[in-house]
Amino acid sequence: MSKLSNCLKNKEQSLPIWFMRQAGRYLPEFKQIRKNNKDFIKLCLDSDLSSEITLQPMKRYDLDAAIIFSDILIVPYALGQRVEFIKNQGPSLEDFNYELFFKNKLKNFSDKLSPIYNAISLTRKKLNKDKSLISFIGAPWTLCLYMLNLKSEEDNINLLSFEKNENIINEIIPVLEEFLIKHIENQIDAGSDVVQIFDSWAGLLPRKNLKDFCYQPNQRIVEFCKKKNIPTICFPKGIGKNYKEFVNIVKPSCISIDHEVDPNWAKNNLNNVCIQGGMSPKTLLESTNKIFREVDRYLEIFSKTAYIFNLGHGVLPQTNPDTIHEVINRVRKYK
Ligand code: CP3
Repeated sequence: MSKLSNCLKNKEQSLPIWFMRQAGRYLPEFKQIRKNNKDFIKLCLDSDLSSEITLQPMKRYDLDAAIIFSDILIVPYALGQRVEFIKNQGPSLEDFNYELFFKNKLKNFSDKLSPIYNAISLTRKKLNKDKSLISFIGAPWTLCLYMLNLKSEEDNINLLSFEKNENIINEIIPVLEEFLIKHIENQIDAGSDVVQIFDSWAGLLPRKNLKDFCYQPNQRIVEFCKKKNIPTICFPKGIGKNYKEFVNIVKPSCISIDHEVDPNWAKNNLNNVCIQGGMSPKTLLESTNKIFREVDRYLEIFSKTAYIFNLGHGVLPQTNPDTIHEVINRVRKYK
């Protein structure tokens, strides 16, 4: 069993380490491939290249897990909504088509995403037995935010259009859940042994909607993974003190905290769960001294907990790849 699996399943304090967004953006070898592959969705659906990109950070660094190279928005794409990634601007989705969305069939959906499952099998074969292969999905609410274009430019929610769309969101969520569960099942069958659920925009939800739009969908997906005996890592980014309620209701194997969560508060309030991450990705842009001080602070606070070293969000594109190396060495040396 991999170190990560052992920590997640048996709460062993083995201090595994991996990074959200470890495959991509900041790595020169990724940028090289990206330059020759302008269509990002097509790149995600190229099994050989996807597997190669997944393994890039594994070749460079001593990490405990690989995360399959794909994107959370591949699911709306497979459900018939055109997705484009515009340079320096992020994703752009074509207008949501209500009728088309509800006509989707599971078989057709799985067929469209089959290159991802092939990439997982390929990668599993090449990956050392003591490494985990993480697959992931975006949680229903975070996908709805993109599908219905509810985000304003300043990373805020457009409350007026949110309220106008509440009924539609209520209809979309259970359908999305069904397709997401299928996507997870296919990824597990292909060889992934851990699932991370990204609810990156949970923090934009009004408090009164957290239960229906965040906790419950996450809980039902976690429940499915439990039946499959696959550990789950949930990342309801930005919900602050509601992390406690999230953990008590959803009961994932592991909770990934963001950089706004006080790690001491997390240690004392998030119980019966592994804790992952927390350190701000911006820390990695500081001097080595500052970085080590902050790494040590997290390691010290969580020294008696089942803790997975990671960040409070993805590695930033401007991160120096050598810094990742230094951080891993620091964590490995910690006793
Ligand atoms: O190691 C890995 O984690 C790589 C696989 C991965 C990608 N996206 C590749 C990617 C994963 C796990 C994701 C998750 C993802 N995608 C999330 C959840 C995590 C988070 O950061 O909150 C979200 C919200 C998205 C949606 C998305 N995809 C955005 C907003 C963008 C544009 C901004 C950005 O992150 O670069 C993407 C594009 C994307 N996804 C890139 C990569 C490597 C960059 C594509 C490029 O080269 O232009």
